[in-house]
Parts: sequence; C-alpha cells; structure tokens
Amino acid sequence: MSSVAELKKQLKDLNLEYAKIKDLPKEERAAFGQKINQQKQALEQQIIEAEAKAEEVAVEALDITAPCDVNGEMPKFLSADHGSRHPLMTELDRVIGIYQSMGFDIMESRQLDDEFHMFDSLNFAKGHPARDGYDTFRTEEGFIPPAHTSTMQHRVLKAYKHKLDEGSAIAVAVPGRVYRNEDVDATHEHTFYQCEGVYVSKDCTLGNMLAILREFFEKYYGQKLNIKTQPGYFPFTEPSLEFLIEKPKSLGGKGDGWLEMLGCGMIHPNVLKMAGIDPTEYQGFAWGGGIDRLVMLRYGLNDVRNFEAAKLDFLKEF
Ligand code: DAH
Repeated sequence: MSSVAELKKQLKDLNLEYAKIKDLPKEERAAFGQKINQQKQALEQQIIEAEAKAEEVAVEALDITAPCDVNGEMPKFLSADHGSRHPLMTELDRVIGIYQSMGFDIMESRQLDDEFHMFDSLNFAKGHPARDGYDTFRTEEGFIPPAHTSTMQHRVLKAYKHKLDEGSAIAVAVPGRVYRNEDVDATHEHTFYQCEGVYVSKDCTLGNMLAILREFFEKYYGQKLNIKTQPGYFPFTEPSLEFLIEKPKSLGGKGDGWLEMLGCGMIHPNVLKMAGIDPTEYQGFAWGGGIDRLVMLRYGLNDVRNFEAAKLDFLKEF
C-alpha cells in the first residue's frame, strides 16, 4: 500500500487535470470530468484508510509489564514516590462515615451551580447586600461555582420530601467543594470543602440540632467537648446561630479558646415553602461548616493553603 504522503501527491497531481477540461472539445468534457471525479474519490478513500492504518501503528499497545529498568537500574522517580490519598479526602470520608452512623443520607454537592440555588432558593432577597457577602465567582455564561454547600438545600428538600409523607424525617448531609473570590492567606482559601446538614420533621427543635452537632464533633475529635452558640445572621435560617467548640486541651487548648466551627439555625419558612414543604406542618434545622478548619484543628495545622498547594512534603506527612 502506498504511503499517505504518496497518495496525497497523487491527489495533488490529479487536481491539476481539472485545468485541462477547458481545452477539450465540448462533447468530451463531461466524460473526462467524471473520470477524474471517480479517480479523486477513490484516492481520497485510500488516503482515509492509509491514515487510519498509520494511527494504529502509532498507538500500538503499550506493554505495561515490560521491565522498566534503565541500564540495569530502576529509575529513582519510579521507585521513590508512589503517591497517597489527599488528607482532605481521608477526612471527608471520616466525616461522611460519622453522619451515616448517625442515620444521615449523603448527597454530594456540585462544582457549578446557578443563581437560583445559590441565592433565591435560600431566601436572599433580590439585590440584598447579603448576596455580596459570599464573594462568588461567576462563569462567562452566568453559572456560579458554589460558595457554600447550602446551594444543595433546595434539592435535598425536594428529593427527600417523600420521607415526610411517609411519616419519617429528612436527614441528609452534603459534602462538597466550594469556591470564594477571596484574598488567600493562612486561614482563607479560594477553594475549600464544606459539609452541610439538613434535618426536617414534624416537631424538631434547636435543642435537637445542638445534640446532633455535639455528637458529631465529639465523634470526630474522639472526646467530650464544651460547646456554645452565639447569634448569627443567614437569610435562610431564623433564628441563625454560630456554633463554637472550646479548643480541647489535647489539641493545644488552654481552656479558654473558643473556635467557630459552623453556621446553623432553624430553616426559614420561606425556604421550606419554596421546596413545597408546608412550614405550618413541618420544621427543620440546617448547618454548614468548613472541612479544612475541622481537619486543621485535628492535626494542629496552621496554614490552610497547604491543602491546595500540591506540596509533596506536606502531603506525605499524612
Ligand atoms: N452556608 C453558610 C456559610 O457558608 C453556613 C450555614 C449557615 C449553613 C446556616 C447552613 C445554615 O445550613 O443553616 O456561611
């Protein structure tokens, strides 16, 4: 079989034949033109086949079992670094496992969302300054990489509404990656992880929420903790609270350092209503907080930037 280059040369020569048509007697032109067209089509088909064949040769199967030593020695880069799981993924699994052990379903967040789920469905009034507080990125098409996992609340409520009809409760945890257009420093990243919790039933209370949060944090840190709340503001909860734990002595605390771990509150009636849940019949609470912060306290880390920096020395410590 001729090579692709040869066939292309033949095609080029053939194309020159077209110029001759105008010098032929009128009655011969059609038949001559047809003949060249046929030859051209055949050549083009041959070129396609020859190119496919050439590609097959180029991607000939790689023998991954072949010995990889160079001059009788294993290259260093192959023998030394095998890679490992990212610590945030390990801890995210731990967080998910704890919520599952407490009876929560898991629904994963997404990496691109929209104005409705980021703001409207969460009772942010149009044009309200609270919308600016989230430092959202936007794509040219108008999508929003979620600035918090609360973007999933509306979806959770709708997807699990049937639980209420069945006389049960909605209990869902939502881990996810979130993004904020913020200046980066040791305690702020533009990309980080959060986990959201959503609970709805006929008669739940803030007291139930605090019990759940205490249980979660005590399981995560493996010890009894002191907790407290302080007033907060979120358009999607009423009342809104910030939840704090006292830095445990085992993690370097001196008995007086309170750390804010997450935002929480009773789900605003408008948020329930928008998802088709009657707020006069049901009530709920929700919370959301950073995974990075949780992990930093567990391991005594002081620079959140290490998680996204692909620093092998840092990652190898886990
Ligand atoms: N999404 C809030 C944030 O990132 C945290 C939050 C507050 C989540 C209250 C909630 C909630 O679910 O009820 O700042």
